[in-house]
Amino acid sequence: MGVGPGDPNLLTVAAVQAIAKAAVVAYPVAQPGAEGMAARIAAPWITEQRHLPLLFPMVAAAAPRLAAWRTAADLLAAELARAEQLVLLCEGDASLFASCSYVLLELASRYPQWPVSVIPGITAVAAAAAAASSLGMPWPLALQDEGLLIRPTPNSQAALELLLEQAKASNTVLALLKLGERWLWVQPVLEARGLLAASLFAQRVGWPDQLLLPASEVPAAQRPYFSLLLIRQNWPEVLP
Ligand SMILES: C[S@@+](CC[C@H](N)C(=O)[O-])C[C@H]1O[C@@H](n2cnc3c(N)ncnc32)[C@H](O)[C@@H]1O
Repeated sequence: MGVGPGDPNLLTVAAVQAIAKAAVVAYPVAQPGAEGMAARIAAPWITEQRHLPLLFPMVAAAAPRLAAWRTAADLLAAELARAEQLVLLCEGDASLFASCSYVLLELASRYPQWPVSVIPGITAVAAAAAAASSLGMPWPLALQDEGLLIRPTPNSQAALELLLEQAKASNTVLALLKLGERWLWVQPVLEARGLLAASLFAQRVGWPDQLLLPASEVPAAQRPYFSLLLIRQNWPEVLP
């Protein structure tokens, strides 16, 4: 289930109720002993439940990731076999670039007997747009016939240039995740195209230190992993 992007008040009522009913709260961690972002977000709602950290190493190699998903599914299935009701927490929404999606796929293929229900969460993209609008920077994600493309930031300048061209031609707003260190070279590309002032930079949305700024105010430097960019190149003709 999704726990939203940072603020514990952005969990849905369904998510809070599911945690309250669970005996076990599982959540992803990147290293053994780490707290886990999703667990930290949901912490105010977790009381007596047993904690089950699931190790998902942040690596590109296939073998450790496959092993991690398999192990996670085995651990969850073992809990379910003990008739324990459990929840698996996931930062943001549970179906958008989410570790728990892999576990869902593993469970569906290897443990189809266990019923699963997925509780959606507020994605960082929606939270960023709402937070900017609340700070006097109105940021509707999509209007009228606009498209909205949520995807990781491309890995090269050339790929970003192409994406910007395609988005402009198709009237598509871009939400670029996993911005982080890429901001170093993304910033000059947007500057050259005159797109900085109209783009929104969002970092650690929902956390006490959240940062929401027009991209023109963010110097080209590495940013944290939990940062994203919203880019709109055209507005609809008919607007208030
Ligand atoms: C693996 S994706 C997870 C997306 C998440 N499931 C969601 O629905 O928002 C991680 C990326 O989402 C974005 N992200 C997630 N939480 C964020 C936050 N609180 N503030 C800014 N960006 C965030 C960042 O771009 C980060 O690199």
